[in-house]
Amino acid sequence: MNKFALGVVSMAILALAGCQSSNQNEKGEAIASTNDALILAAREQFKPLPDGPGEIAGINATPELVALGNMLYSDPRLSASHTIACAACHSMGLGGADARSTSLGHRWQHGGRNAPTVLNAVYNTAQFWDGRAKDLTEQAGGPISNPIEMAMPADQVIPTLKSIPGYADAFAKAFPGDKDPIRIANVQTAIAAYEATLVTPNAPFDRFLKGDAQALGQAERRGLKSFMDNGCAACHSGVNMGGGMYAKFGVASPPPADLLPPGDVGRFAVTKDEADRYSYKVPTLRNIALTAPYFHTGKVWNLDEAVTVMAKTQLGKTLPQQEVSDIVAFLKSLTGDQPKTSVPVLPPVAGTSVRPVD
Ligand code: HEC
Ligand code: HEC
Repeated sequence: MNKFALGVVSMAILALAGCQSSNQNEKGEAIASTNDALILAAREQFKPLPDGPGEIAGINATPELVALGNMLYSDPRLSASHTIACAACHSMGLGGADARSTSLGHRWQHGGRNAPTVLNAVYNTAQFWDGRAKDLTEQAGGPISNPIEMAMPADQVIPTLKSIPGYADAFAKAFPGDKDPIRIANVQTAIAAYEATLVTPNAPFDRFLKGDAQALGQAERRGLKSFMDNGCAACHSGVNMGGGMYAKFGVASPPPADLLPPGDVGRFAVTKDEADRYSYKVPTLRNIALTAPYFHTGKVWNLDEAVTVMAKTQLGKTLPQQEVSDIVAFLKSLTGDQPKTSVPVLPPVAGTSVRPVD
């Protein structure tokens, strides 16, 4: 084969490959082919959020399992005071977060960090700001017995659930064939299976990525371009626009002290690797317009300021106000359809049920 023929063959292969990737995403959903240069450039760095629930390896998310997960997620009786459910700090009405700098837990105690959203968390490669839980199942074991969150003594979780008669049936249906289904591992599995349904597809930016050039207006388009050209996408990329890697907060220049208090060493606490000091999981930017305040300290209350801080600390740039506004317009196009989850009716307590502590 001469050089020219080789060229033709490789061009044909390229065309084929291009055609495939522009027709389907990994879930087989349609992605229209397009000539819009900005859509094509964006597809190199980002992926549309699939419709439908995310998947967790090894979990068969039957409707009964997801329904039990929704109950447990919403049940304040998993806390010592019977007041603080997961939903208290990760509310479906507040973008999966709690609209506070740091959360209020047991006996009005403040945690040390801002509550990240649970929406689309199934697409993060690890959980928590420092990535100390490898997935949603492992994460769900943390807050229930955390003394400043739900504060339920670890050995009281199962006796409490067993003392609420209706749970026997709900666990039996969710874990058919399991002789003793009310177990902590199953609690975590059910909550994780429910959380995997908390996804927000169909944001304007998803429609844009799928080929609808009209889904973003002029300001959003300029913002997207600036987001890519300035290098924001080096960290905030992929299906979740983040959630896939760790980065130092202050790569280019140190953040103000109130945004990076020295006592919170970030990922270093997990790995003890000096390179990870003040490193955090890059947060997802999906639904970011719904989840102020921002950063692990929750000290920044508006997106303009968050973008300005990021440009300075991560990229060493001072962006003109117009560019900041354009990026913010783009970030607002990341708000998707919020989960249509229902408030579950929880099984009532019986006279013999474990009582709350004050
Ligand atoms: C008192 C408030 C509070 C309660 C109650 C609470 N959380 Fe959280 N949640 C937080 C905070 C704060 C963090 C971040 C902590 C950190 O990174 O160190 C967090 C982190 C998470 C994350 C990680 C998200 C990410 O992107 O890293 C998930 C998932 C989550 N919580 C789910 C749950 C579930 C499930 C429950 C109930 C079993 C629950 N939370 C109860 C405050 C709370
Ligand atoms: C080198 C990696 C990196 C780059 C580049 C980067 N970010 Fe970030 N971003 C992070 C990390 C890490 C955090 C979490 C910081 C913290 O609170 O500890 C973050 C946080 C954010 C937040 C707050 C999210 C939340 O839920 O609180 C926004 C908004 C944001 N980035 C936008 C941007 C924009 C816009 C750009 C470009 C101007 C950008 N980022 C560039 C790593 C990066």
